[in-house]
Amino acid sequence: MALVFVTRRIPEVGIKMLEEAGHEVDVSSKDGVLTPDELKGALQQKPYEALVSLLTDTIDEGVLVCCPSLKICANYAVGFNNINLEATKSANIQVTNTPDVLTDTVAEFAVASVLALAKRIPEADKFTKALKYEGWAPELLLGSDLKGKTLGILGCGRIGVGVAERLAKGFGMKVAYYDIQRSEYLETSVGAVYYDTAEAVLEIADVVSLHVPLLDSTRHLINADRLKKMKKGALLVNTSRGPVIDEQALFEALRSGVIGGAALDVFENEPAIVTGLEKLDNVILTPHIASATHETRNKMSEMVANNVLVCLRGEIPPNLVK
Ligand code: GLV
Ligand code: GLV
Repeated sequence: MALVFVTRRIPEVGIKMLEEAGHEVDVSSKDGVLTPDELKGALQQKPYEALVSLLTDTIDEGVLVCCPSLKICANYAVGFNNINLEATKSANIQVTNTPDVLTDTVAEFAVASVLALAKRIPEADKFTKALKYEGWAPELLLGSDLKGKTLGILGCGRIGVGVAERLAKGFGMKVAYYDIQRSEYLETSVGAVYYDTAEAVLEIADVVSLHVPLLDSTRHLINADRLKKMKKGALLVNTSRGPVIDEQALFEALRSGVIGGAALDVFENEPAIVTGLEKLDNVILTPHIASATHETRNKMSEMVANNVLVCLRGEIPPNLVK
């Protein structure tokens, strides 16, 4: 029997798995993100061996010293930029994430964002609900077609590939991509063309979708200079991590017509949003819900629990982050 601390309520299935295996699970009763002090305080209560963290929890040395008994930090997310891996490594704590189970879900969401932007669906919905519709008109709310246009993918991991395949096979888009590694798979499956810089993709893409992890090298990958390289009228979709975009620079670019529109599911200083972004018609804002389906959140819960169970048995958990 081991003690497990979960920083916020997650779907029940994973909690049950842990309890059925005989572990004692404490789930934070706060319906919100724990402050660093609250997290430290909670971890000092009992000799926890496993911590289930969320992407909204910063796990650093200061947190880890509060809980010397900890063996694993199982992150309920595919991204793990919230965890200081040097600190976990020196404290000999395993870190796991939840890859694969959310790939299709996030890819579907990114495609939905592209469609919503190109067809101006949220704008049209707002217009109609405001009772402004006075009859069919030839030039009412014109959007753009996707067929034959170029989709630029920055970051060609599982999710990037999933988005490219859906938009190429389902909607006839051409695919240009940049990553530090080439994806032979994507080149074969949809004839994607590789470019060795992000700029080269930005210059030719009509729609750009971001799928990089947040690293020092990807912070502000989209900045004022690169936004200027994009086509006037280009659409930008971000379902990765907020700081990949310089949000203030994007706001200026959208306001002054440097690019055509953007759909953002993540923000640089989440949950805060650059002032004024919410007033622009050519922007769709969603609250970090790309992986938020019943199916996927349940699977993430099971996966987190499985990683904890395997670690507590003294074995290597399946989704160990290297
Ligand atoms: C969501 O953003 C995740 O990383 O799982
Ligand atoms: C996420 O799972 C990715 O590799 O893109």
